Amino acid sequence: MAIQIQPLDDKLSFGARVTGLTSSLIRDEAVRAQLNQLFEDRGVIVFAGMEPSPEAQVEVSTVFGPLKDHPVASVERADADKLLGVIEIKSGPQACVVEIDGKPLATWQPWHFDHAYNNELNRAGVLRSIKIAEDGGRTAFADGIQIYRDMDPAIRDKAEGISLLYNLDLRYTEQRFGLPDNFRVIRPHASMLHEETKDDPCSIHPALWTRATGEKVFHMTPYGCRGIEGDRSDKAFALLAEIWDEAMRVIKPYYHEWSPTDMVIWDNWRVLHEACGCNPDEERIVHRTTIKGDYGLGRFEERRAVA
Ligand SMILES: [Fe+2]
Repeated sequence: MAIQIQPLDDKLSFGARVTGLTSSLIRDEAVRAQLNQLFEDRGVIVFAGMEPSPEAQVEVSTVFGPLKDHPVASVERADADKLLGVIEIKSGPQACVVEIDGKPLATWQPWHFDHAYNNELNRAGVLRSIKIAEDGGRTAFADGIQIYRDMDPAIRDKAEGISLLYNLDLRYTEQRFGLPDNFRVIRPHASMLHEETKDDPCSIHPALWTRATGEKVFHMTPYGCRGIEGDRSDKAFALLAEIWDEAMRVIKPYYHEWSPTDMVIWDNWRVLHEACGCNPDEERIVHRTTIKGDYGLGRFEERRAVA
């Protein structure tokens, strides 16, 4: 008995699809090592044909490292008492609704990496779709190594050496670049997180970084971005917009259509992801686990003096 591994798409620089992963194989040290190597090489693994339970999700997740509880206390936990770190993301009457090209979308989120607002960047996330929307609800992934390689070097060089500021103000009305054309907010986030965290220091992460294996990674997001370290001017945002637009010109995403027996893990230090949004009239529920770790390059601004 062994797992089967295929590329997600022959045309993509990343992603693998694994089938045949049973509970007993998950406990096999050789299989665990094989999966970790695959994850390092390919950045995204789709596990197909898995048992659709939170226990199975935690079992798969812990192959890649210890779980980490979510840094935001108000994010809903799926199994608060027994399974640390399974969080629930769902659409519903409180969900933000946006419109892109005339189509209303709930649970949409732009390309981003998780925990940008934190100094520590989790190693990975694992998603499982509990209630799948019939209209939309896809999750997209893109490879920061591919984006870096394909960008026009003249623009890419402008990202060299700069670090971005992030916080938990995730309101699209405050987002300064990287929103789609023909975009508007129909119903804003109900959360007051931006207000509750407005005095917190921003996190700082480099726009580009180099993996231990030598590849350079494009790794920035407009989501919650408050500017460049040392520069929050309009000019700084114009530069970020120029870099971001070039990245979006060359990006080659993989769009995942969910099945109830899928689990997907992505490398949060390398891969950007986007929630493509779904019809606001449908309920969509996703469970996510978070794998602990850190790439060691994030930090916080000096805390502002409190008067
Ligand atoms: Fe995310």
